[in-house]
Amino acid sequence: MTRKPIIAGNWKLNKTIQEAIELVTLLKRQVGDIQNVEIVVCPPYTALSSVSEILVDSDIKLGAQDVYWEEKGAFTGEVSPSLIKDAGAQVVIIGHSERRQFFHETDEGVNKKTKAVLKAGLAPIVCVGETLAEREADKTIRVIQDQLRGAFAHFSNGEMKEVAIAYEPVWAIGTGKVATPLQAGEVHDFIRKELSKSFGHEVAEGLRILYGGSVKPDNIARLMQEPDIDGALVGGASLDAAGFSEIVKSASIVTV
Ligand code: PGA
Repeated sequence: MTRKPIIAGNWKLNKTIQEAIELVTLLKRQVGDIQNVEIVVCPPYTALSSVSEILVDSDIKLGAQDVYWEEKGAFTGEVSPSLIKDAGAQVVIIGHSERRQFFHETDEGVNKKTKAVLKAGLAPIVCVGETLAEREADKTIRVIQDQLRGAFAHFSNGEMKEVAIAYEPVWAIGTGKVATPLQAGEVHDFIRKELSKSFGHEVAEGLRILYGGSVKPDNIARLMQEPDIDGALVGGASLDAAGFSEIVKSASIVTV
């Protein structure tokens, strides 16, 4: 089965509205015509609507970095799936390790958010990944298994089909320490096999599993050669148009 790769830029807490417009305008010019890679940009909430105006006539997709599962009500500071949709986004990152580490995100919360996002017709990118201590204690597979079970508890095969997963080892995020293609490939292979047990071979084979953690223009091609790596979630290197475009172009060449 061929899986269209995704290269998603997670801008985190960076870029004013004006800076976001400038970055996405450059991206449109540099990679707007690439068809064999799904390109996603995830600015902060405040820039979603302005960026969506720039992207109206483009295949580059827009994503949010988080979401809340309730639709409306007394939840100060939260943003619902339909508000994200209203701002023009199609994609939502859920369960990023920074949300888990700094904002007490739990697997149960990831589950509720992913369900709510699917219900709204948005595409979730659900993040999993182990810490350095967990890897050193040989607990990587166990941790990933628990995160997957929690995130996708009570999911139907139909729901699972709409999900993309990002494997992001916490020790590789923003550290410049990229997982080796073999280390990443091994976990990706495990994720696909594990989900195949719960959701069947066909669903698992169709799932896109991205790698995240210090992805740069000079390491993306090798990572993408691993059969189970279907793209990347890019943090730091997505803040610069030239670097992110280079990553997209490399992914596009590997995919041909
Ligand atoms: P990084 O971040 O590319 O800066 O390591 C990746 C991520 O957090 O999604």
